[in-house]
Amino acid sequence: MTSKTLALDGPAGSGKSSVSRAVAQRLGWVMLDTGAMYRAITWAVLQANIDLHDRAAIAQQALSTTIEITTDPRSFNIAANGVDVTKAIRSPEVTAAVSAVSAVPEVRELLVQLQREAVANSDFGIVIEGRDIGTVVLPDSRLKVFLTATPEARAKRRSLEVDPLADNQMIAQTQEELLSRDEKDSGREHSPLKPALDSRIVDTSELSLEQVVDQLVILAHETYS
Ligand code: DC
Repeated sequence: MTSKTLALDGPAGSGKSSVSRAVAQRLGWVMLDTGAMYRAITWAVLQANIDLHDRAAIAQQALSTTIEITTDPRSFNIAANGVDVTKAIRSPEVTAAVSAVSAVPEVRELLVQLQREAVANSDFGIVIEGRDIGTVVLPDSRLKVFLTATPEARAKRRSLEVDPLADNQMIAQTQEELLSRDEKDSGREHSPLKPALDSRIVDTSELSLEQVVDQLVILAHETYS
């Protein structure tokens, strides 16, 4: 089991995914995208036509869904019940439904257990990114970082990821969606999005990807050398 962990949390569009991938590569570590796991369960729930208000059915579906996820920062793949859902989990339908699914306590219990197993089975250091990593999944991690950014910066980043030619109208709509998802993720009863008391808060609004990565690599070296 590795003792080198970077628990990386933050809202949608704060740059977590790109940052964790790059930091893991620089450190020679692996990475785990926990949001992708919530998305894969959501994909399975939508495939099964389950009503998003039916928490018991969502919990049941989660229990019968097998997730396989890679941790190599250079190539990412995720499968649900043997189906490659790497692309499908980024669809607008999954994005719109994922907050409802990830608010179900049984779904969280199941995935938190899988996430801790992935850390326990890793021989390398691991960057693990999500919303509750520092608070719930790995509360004893020696290094916790919470990325923030203004809603404007996050919406712009997210829109340009989806469409490099995104216009102002698209960015404004993305901002509305991000804020609505933040509100659900931060306001939910179980494991809401919030920094752990011992998290370092890094505001990425005015920083380039390289600048954020540099900061985190330095923190990792300071913590684990
Ligand atoms: O990081 P992302 O946008 O792919 O995450 C998708 C959703 O999953 C997000 O709206 C909240 C949820 N999530 C969560 O509740 N806990 C995590 N550790 C990771 C993601």
